[in-house]
Amino acid sequence: MKTLLINIHQLLQVRPSEVRFVAGEQMRDLPLIQNAWLLIEKEQIADFGPMESAPLNATKNIIDCTDRVVMPSYCDSHSHIIYAGDRVDEFVQRLEGKSYQEIAALGGGILNSASRLEKTSEKQLYEQAAERLKRCAYQGTGALEIKSGYGLNLQAEVKMLRVAKRLSEKFPVAIKTTFLGAHALPESYKNRKDDYVKHICQEMIPEVASQNLADFIDVFCEEGYFDLEDTEKILSTGAKFGLKGKIHVNQFNAIGGVALGVAMDALSVDHLEELIEEDLMALENGQTMPVALPGCSLFLDIPFTPARKIIDRGLPIALATDFNPGSAPSGNMNLVVSLACMRMKMTPAEAINAATINGAYAMGLEATHGSITKGKKASLIITNPLEDFSHIPYDFGQSPIDQVILNGRLL
Ligand code: NIG
Ligand code: FE
Repeated sequence: MKTLLINIHQLLQVRPSEVRFVAGEQMRDLPLIQNAWLLIEKEQIADFGPMESAPLNATKNIIDCTDRVVMPSYCDSHSHIIYAGDRVDEFVQRLEGKSYQEIAALGGGILNSASRLEKTSEKQLYEQAAERLKRCAYQGTGALEIKSGYGLNLQAEVKMLRVAKRLSEKFPVAIKTTFLGAHALPESYKNRKDDYVKHICQEMIPEVASQNLADFIDVFCEEGYFDLEDTEKILSTGAKFGLKGKIHVNQFNAIGGVALGVAMDALSVDHLEELIEEDLMALENGQTMPVALPGCSLFLDIPFTPARKIIDRGLPIALATDFNPGSAPSGNMNLVVSLACMRMKMTPAEAINAATINGAYAMGLEATHGSITKGKKASLIITNPLEDFSHIPYDFGQSPIDQVILNGRLL
């Protein structure tokens, strides 16, 4: 089946296939075609160009995009959408004055989600996550990374990853999965962190890998969670099993996790709310994508990742939601793009680059997603009538989206 989009006011993010990500000054450039057409064939972008050359006889299946922006769907490279219930009670506790870390130290936080997940069947877990994923898709997300990390024992971690696999089979959203056994120390290993790290390396990673349940491996590298030595052990074991690193670093403290991640050739280092000179220097020497999660900064009222410092050093940056019940209960990439502009002083072009092509790179999907490129997946956002793409962040809190096409089909 073919579909032809015509009269596209602005066709955004038109790139040759060689571009894997954009960095530094390149991020200010968002290549576009004014008054364009785009032809979809099967699941792919077959061709596109300016309206003068539109192949109007290619198909009867035509969508008129007059006054509308068409762009690649968002690539959200960091989420924890598989969780049981919610943590709205902790949200209220924080409003009453307790900090995220204080709540975690009292047995709330990640351990709270782990005990809820333990009591939730795989079927219920799937249904809850599917509902969230559906909402993300309607909000424009066409590729999503999903982490485990609320199981904290082999059986429950595998349960989460199986749910993620099932989501990837049922939804037209491209999904990558990440094993995050080192998200917190479970009750059963209290005061025995070294034993838990050993268990992760000797039992959990081999089993997850043998069932082919994960693409990546992650560690919450932070004071009170897992230190540099733990992170090094887990990432290097993961690497032996073919799992590339994507780590949580510098959320509350800069403890050297960025340099470690870069040295271990991690695909991405995520959070970076606390960023020091050594971290920037490390990033300059590698291929690791820094990922900012402004929804988490907003929700926890912690600093925003200093995007300007990163981009002005010539580095790339990606944006993701961190969708999870504790620190960012939203999977809305439109809001993330707005926050990046309003609170991190990124330009609309930089934010859209960060949320599409750079997000795709941060989850190893840049060959198929993240730009308008012949042969890539036809996963697209058609906006409401907009004078210019800058309205996407400007009209904050409102959805700019009229229709979503995933793998060539209207949602
Ligand atoms: O990315 N920081 C670690 N993990 C999540 C939060 C997890 C939770 O609170 O449930 C994050 O913010
Ligand atoms: Fe996270």
